[in-house]
Order: sequence, then C-alpha cells, then structure tokens
Amino acid sequence: MDGIIMLKGLIFVCLIASSTARELKAKDQGSIYNHTLATILVEYAATVYVSDLTELFTWTCPRCNDLTKGFQILDLIVDVKLCLQAYVGVAPDLNAIVIAFRGTQATSIQNWIADLFWKQLDIEYPGMENAMVHHGFYSAYHNTTLRPGVLSAVKRAKELYGHIPIMVTGHSMGGAMAAFCGLDLTVNYGSRNVSVMTFGQPRIGNAAFASYYSKWVPNTIRVTHEHDIVPHLPPYYHYFPQKTYHHFPTEVWLHNLGFGLLVYAVEKVCDNSGEDPSCSRSVTGYSIKNHLWYYGVRLGGENPGFCRIVERDLAAYGTVDVDGNVILSRDIPSSVLRMNVEPNEDGRLM
Ligand SMILES: *[C@@H]1O[C@H](CO)[C@@H](O)[C@H](O)[C@H]1NC(C)=O
Ligand SMILES: *[C@@H]1O[C@H](CO)[C@@H](O)[C@H](O)[C@H]1NC(C)=O
Ligand SMILES: *[C@@H]1O[C@H](CO)[C@@H](O)[C@H](O)[C@H]1NC(C)=O
Repeated sequence: MDGIIMLKGLIFVCLIASSTARELKAKDQGSIYNHTLATILVEYAATVYVSDLTELFTWTCPRCNDLTKGFQILDLIVDVKLCLQAYVGVAPDLNAIVIAFRGTQATSIQNWIADLFWKQLDIEYPGMENAMVHHGFYSAYHNTTLRPGVLSAVKRAKELYGHIPIMVTGHSMGGAMAAFCGLDLTVNYGSRNVSVMTFGQPRIGNAAFASYYSKWVPNTIRVTHEHDIVPHLPPYYHYFPQKTYHHFPTEVWLHNLGFGLLVYAVEKVCDNSGEDPSCSRSVTGYSIKNHLWYYGVRLGGENPGFCRIVERDLAAYGTVDVDGNVILSRDIPSSVLRMNVEPNEDGRLM
C-alpha cells in the first residue's frame, strides 16, 4: 500500500514538474494557457447552444449560472436558415468582451462528422498569399448575418469600454467560426487584445493559413480532448505538409494518464507547430462522446439534428431581416464592468 502511495506521489510530482515546464514553454510562444479561464470559456461555448432565445438573451437559462453569472448580452444573432448562432456581451468577472459561436446543428453530428472527411481547401483567404481555407467554415462567419451583428456589438462595447480584452470562443464548427472572427477583428479592424479559445475544433486551412493566423492571433488556445474525432478532421497528411489541412497553434490536449487507481487528468500544452505529434495526433480520433464533453461540461444542442428557436416577449429588442434571421440587440448599462478604459490615443474604437 505504501508503495502505491509513494508511486502515486512520485507520478504526481513528475506531472507537476512536466506541466510547469510546459507552461513556461507556452509563455515563450506568446500564448498562455490558463486552466481557470478555459473552464469559464467552455461554459460560454456551451450556452451558445441554448435554443430558447429569451432565456439566453436575459441570461437566465439553466446553463447561464455557474461561472458565467452576471454576463450581459449585447447582441444575439441567429441565422435561421443555416442554423447558426452567436452572441456578444460583456463579462464582469473577466472584465472582457466575450463572443461565442455555435456552428450548424441542421444535420446530426454523425452526418456532419462524416462530411468533414471530404471538405476541400477551396478558397484563398483574402490578402494572404497561398493561404487556403474551407469555404463552408469561412462563409459561415464571413457571408452570413453573424458577422455584421458581431461587429456592431463589438463597436458599441468598445465605445463604452475602450480597448478591453476580447475573448472569442466556440465548440466544434463554432470553434472554426471563432477563429475566423478573431482573425477578422485583428486584421480588418485593428483590434488588439483579441484571444481565441476553441474546443474540439476541426482544421480550417492549410499550413500557410495556419502560419498567418498564428502571427495575427498568437493568443490562441485550441483545446482537444482525448480521442475526440473532430480535431483530426479534415485529415492532415504529414507527407504533404504544405498541401493539406494544417492546424494552427497552440493545442492543449486533455487526456488521462495512468491505469486503474493511478489515473491523472493531464492538460498538455503542445508545441508551436499546430500539429504536435505528441498531442492528440498521438492517438486515433474515433470518439464522438469525447467531442461532446470538455472540462466536464456538455457541449451540444438540446435536440441534436433539429434546429429550432424559441422566443417570447423580446419584440422590443428584436429585428428580423428579409431572410427571417433574428437579431436581438440592446445597449448595456455602463456600470457592468469595473473598469472604464479610455479609448487609445488615436481615438480608434475598433
Ligand atoms: C487565469 O484566468 C483567471 C480568470 O480570468 C484570472 O482570474 C487569473 O488571474 C488568470 N491567471 C493567470 C496566471 O493569468
Ligand atoms: C454568400 O451567400 C450568398 C447567399 O447566401 C451566395 O449566393 C453567395 O454565393 C455567397 N458568397 C460567397 C463568397 O460565399
Ligand atoms: C489589453 O487589456 C488590458 C486589460 O484591460 C490592458 O491593461 C492592456 O493595456 C490592453 N492592451 C492593449 C494592447 O490594448
């Protein structure tokens, strides 16, 4: 028994030592993994799946309680036809603007994953030579009602609070959209302090794209979990590294180490290649269950494969565009955040 306890202690010390070393390494790369922040942002990524817009907009849904308490939504945007959803708001505890995306739920998750195998790198990312991305993920953010809704809310929040940090998050396809949004805010709107954290995100572009992306949005964490299949897709072929899909850094791989009584949860901060062979790529991606749970939080719709929205008593906030998309919008009381940061000297608010 003593032996087991000693062994446990030894393994524990080794894990602490190695994780500390990794954190230092991650800092050198400019992207700092913060476990506490991840457990908060995963809840934001989970709430964006809520289909009762009234509960979501007023932040009274059952999921809207725990670590996200006090959040104030500015804009809630639903693309009804494509079944996409996003919100922008201010989080008093984080003293930040939080943007969360939900990808399509129009088909079952099994069908959606099966389709991922065949996604082509079929358009060039504007202004970035040789950077190819998948058209579907790109246009879910860039060519829908989500982008103007998100940008307008960010602009309003910045008028009120200046250059406070912006945190963009999403799970699965929502993670792909979060990455495009973070890049857009940085490249096209000169936003500073943009960080992106995604959960179970698929690959979205090629190596050239990943390299541009990580220069523009270095503060990006891409969390993967055990055998989650989605981060393995669309496939990466290591013998054609320039031609195929390639993840951007920095991956953090959540997995368990050990056997039986000696199992420890490890959060491995991976290297700056985006395709660290010792992280999730060291295992086979076969699990949908691992895709739907991150940090003990379930991510996914209440009725997967079935897109619906429920809304009551929101006429005062809502507009519906010609395509039937819903945009709920309001201004925030200026007292939500502790700090009222001055706009930068150049007066730019975006
Ligand atoms: C991690 O994030 C939490 C929540 O935002 C914050 O309170 C804490 O200071 C951060 N820790 C570090 C080391 O930055
Ligand atoms: C944008 O969407 C419209 C209609 O939804 C479509 O006709 C158009 O081809 C799309 N453009 C791009 C660049 O994806
Ligand atoms: C980022 O946000 C922090 C906290 O609000 C602030 O202290 C810092 O100056 C900001 N950095 C930039 C470049 O705006």
